[in-house]
Amino acid sequence: MTDIKDAVVLVTGANGGLGREFVRQALERGARRVYASARTPREWDDARVVPLELDVTDPASVAAAAARADDVTIVINNAGAATQGSLTSADLSGARELFEVNFWGPLEVANAFAPALKANGGGAVLNVLSVLSWIALADTYSATKAALWSATNTQRLQLAEQGTQVVALHVGYTDTPMTARLDVEKNDPADVVAQAYDGIAEGSYEVLADDVSRQVKAALSSPVAAMYPALAASSS
Ligand SMILES: NC(=O)c1ccc[n+]([C@@H]2O[C@H](COP(=O)([O-])OP(=O)(O)OC[C@H]3O[C@@H](n4cnc5c(N)ncnc54)[C@H](OP(=O)(O)O)[C@@H]3O)[C@@H](O)[C@H]2O)c1
Repeated sequence: MTDIKDAVVLVTGANGGLGREFVRQALERGARRVYASARTPREWDDARVVPLELDVTDPASVAAAAARADDVTIVINNAGAATQGSLTSADLSGARELFEVNFWGPLEVANAFAPALKANGGGAVLNVLSVLSWIALADTYSATKAALWSATNTQRLQLAEQGTQVVALHVGYTDTPMTARLDVEKNDPADVVAQAYDGIAEGSYEVLADDVSRQVKAALSSPVAAMYPALAASSS
């Protein structure tokens, strides 16, 4: 259990759709300070917000942010991208780039801030994953989130030793700039973030923020062909 009230929260990708909500709701729940980190920080109209430059793919930038924000008690690993670069392409450079943002980036951030979290009493790390951690319908993006899901499980075990709660947030389509071009039903980012902070406050290990995430997780024990109906179509 990690209190949001009086917490010092660091949000990566704070200018994005979910990022803005993570900043707003931390303030609403009484956070003492919020580091709104971004590649290009912007001004916020609340004195408790500290804009901070942080590119998750640049270890020097991550280290500088960790040195500046050494009073942090909650890290929200939210930054992410959905650019493509296929796992089955002869050229894997695009896929590697996406892993830099969605996989190695959050690990750099968590590892850089872990000493501060320990010094400040343990605190919490929340990794923004996806329903696509569990179903490979989005090529490299799915693979990055599946890898981060596994790494989150490792972090949870290892950071428990220093009293840090590690939370995985799984969610499907949510109405942010990342999905702006998709004409599908989408979650409200405010609802997703409220569930994420409830999970942190209640001591949860995992937050499944919508029905599709709950259904796909429950289906993981199904035969592969049941998870991927396209296989039946391609073999007939
Ligand atoms: N929207 C969905 O349907 C959905 C579903 C499941 C999971 N997610 C995950 O939710 C998280 C937030 O995404 P969103 O939906 O809010 O999308 P978004 O509005 O596109 O926000 C993503 C943010 O990540 C930032 N970012 C990208 N690369 C970065 C880097 N190298 N260093 C620091 N920040 C970087 C972007 O910064 P710039 O402003 O500088 O580009 C942007 O502010 C992501 O991890 C995403 O994978 C989203």
